[in-house]
Amino acid sequence: MSFKVRMQEAAKSRGSKIVLALDFQYEAPENRQKVLIEAQRILKAVHPYVCGVKINHHLVLPLGTFDGVQLLVEQIHSQGLIAIMDAKVNDIGATNQVIAEYYYAAGFDALIANPFVGWDEGLKPLFEVSQRLNRGVILLCYMSHKGASEGYGQTIIDSETGEKTLQYISFAKKALKWGADGAVVGATYPEKIRDIKQILGQKVSIYSPGVGAQGGTAETAIKAGANFLIVGREITRAGNPSRVASQLCDSVKRL
Ligand code: XMP
Repeated sequence: MSFKVRMQEAAKSRGSKIVLALDFQYEAPENRQKVLIEAQRILKAVHPYVCGVKINHHLVLPLGTFDGVQLLVEQIHSQGLIAIMDAKVNDIGATNQVIAEYYYAAGFDALIANPFVGWDEGLKPLFEVSQRLNRGVILLCYMSHKGASEGYGQTIIDSETGEKTLQYISFAKKALKWGADGAVVGATYPEKIRDIKQILGQKVSIYSPGVGAQGGTAETAIKAGANFLIVGREITRAGNPSRVASQLCDSVKRL
């Protein structure tokens, strides 16, 4: 079963389109064990209401890939959830390949990557490793923060057609052409979700971060065409994370 289908199955069986972003604030390195304990606590409380969990660099840094993060990936899988590494893979191909091998060895089901680095000697080796190991690649198409317009929103001359287009439209087309399993489009930009959905249809799933803390809403993102919502601080910083996740999960179900 491909990553895209595994993700759809997890969402169906859980009745949730929420991917938890397991993000925490800075702790002094000597206190990093506290971060692992907090991550395990949140996972235990929230897992019935999400279909997947996304881990970011700022969790890998204090915990380490094979010491702490792998424990979390095992917990995520034992709860029947999908584990996504938000590595924003963004280097030359030889390096990207090694990054992928390590994260997949730690058990991750998919990696997020940045299409700005291109295909040849860029993301091609990442897609090759992912296909060989039956894992997924999710490409950034339009990020959720304000400065996203400076890169993803630029008007460019398409290197293949020579025509003027928007950077994020070009990335959406590459997501299709390269066989990506998902595309990240900020929930803060529903009009971009709609534009990208027109290109991707149901072939590539849209993952939308930026709900809550960054100002996006679940309803607007889903109605614009998002398949999954990536939600971090709204849940991880809540007084009662389980209740917030449950309410969010229910509100999305009704749409
Ligand atoms: P919050 O706390 O704002 O966290 O719900 C959002 C999470 O998603 C990540 N993020 C992104 N990841 N493309 C990505 O691949 C994006 O456009 C994007 N915007 C936010 C962020 O790192 C955090 O983990």
